[in-house]
Amino acid sequence: MIRANKPLSKAGRIVILTGAGISKESGLETFRDPGGIWARVRVEDVATPDAFARDPQRVHAFYNARRQGLLSANVAPNPAHAALAHLEAEWPGEVLLVTQNIDDLHERAGARNLIHMHGEILTALCTLCRGISPWRHDMDAASQCPACGRAGSLRVNVVWFGEMPYEMERIYRALAACDLFLSIGTSGNVYPAAGFVEEVRGAGHGHTVELNLEPSQGHSSFAERAYGRASEIVPAFVTRLLEDGG
Ligand code: APR
Repeated sequence: MIRANKPLSKAGRIVILTGAGISKESGLETFRDPGGIWARVRVEDVATPDAFARDPQRVHAFYNARRQGLLSANVAPNPAHAALAHLEAEWPGEVLLVTQNIDDLHERAGARNLIHMHGEILTALCTLCRGISPWRHDMDAASQCPACGRAGSLRVNVVWFGEMPYEMERIYRALAACDLFLSIGTSGNVYPAAGFVEEVRGAGHGHTVELNLEPSQGHSSFAERAYGRASEIVPAFVTRLLEDGG
């Protein structure tokens, strides 16, 4: 644990960014670890608007398999998800959780003040009416939009490469105002999330902490860093924060 900060006042505003690493111990795959998702499937084939235009059924099949995996009985929030929900419940100041993940494990653990900047695999987006609806079963070209009733216009509500993530203005405002920025379980490869730590540093008053299995691409930008499995280091960090302000 590399510490370089004074205790955080309990009124401090906290922004937390999470990535696939926080869900790894819940049984969901990461993207860039050895054997991860992008080691087996090309982004260009399943995670871009062009891929969907070219072969929608292949894209539907890719997300159908991941949705089925998420909904399987052995996938559940782990102690890291629970610790962040506990922090949100117990911390007097605002805690905003921004996740790059499309799973619902933060919600299942009790998180409320949550932004899914890359969308959510358990919702569907209609390309005609732009309606977003809950969606927990397989999707295909004949699937009907629950909002407008039309068939053939649905896609998974996930932000693909080249598309704008959700709620960026709200996120940047929170980053500029925060007193503590926690980055958990992300490799720091994908922007804009990978640039959030620099946004906080540029604002000049937020303390920045990386909690990850190993140093991320942006590890040197963080004032404090701790490495290990999220299910161990995140609860330990939250306990320390609640006991003595970090
Ligand atoms: N505990 C903590 N960190 C872990 C664990 C664990 N048990 N297991 C893996 N990690 C770390 C890895 O070391 C890696 O740094 O989690 C990070 C996962 O990185 P990626 O697989 O690149 O996932 P992420 O950073 O979330 O990817 C960002 O890229 O493909 C797009 O849209 C997709 O949201 C995703 C974005």
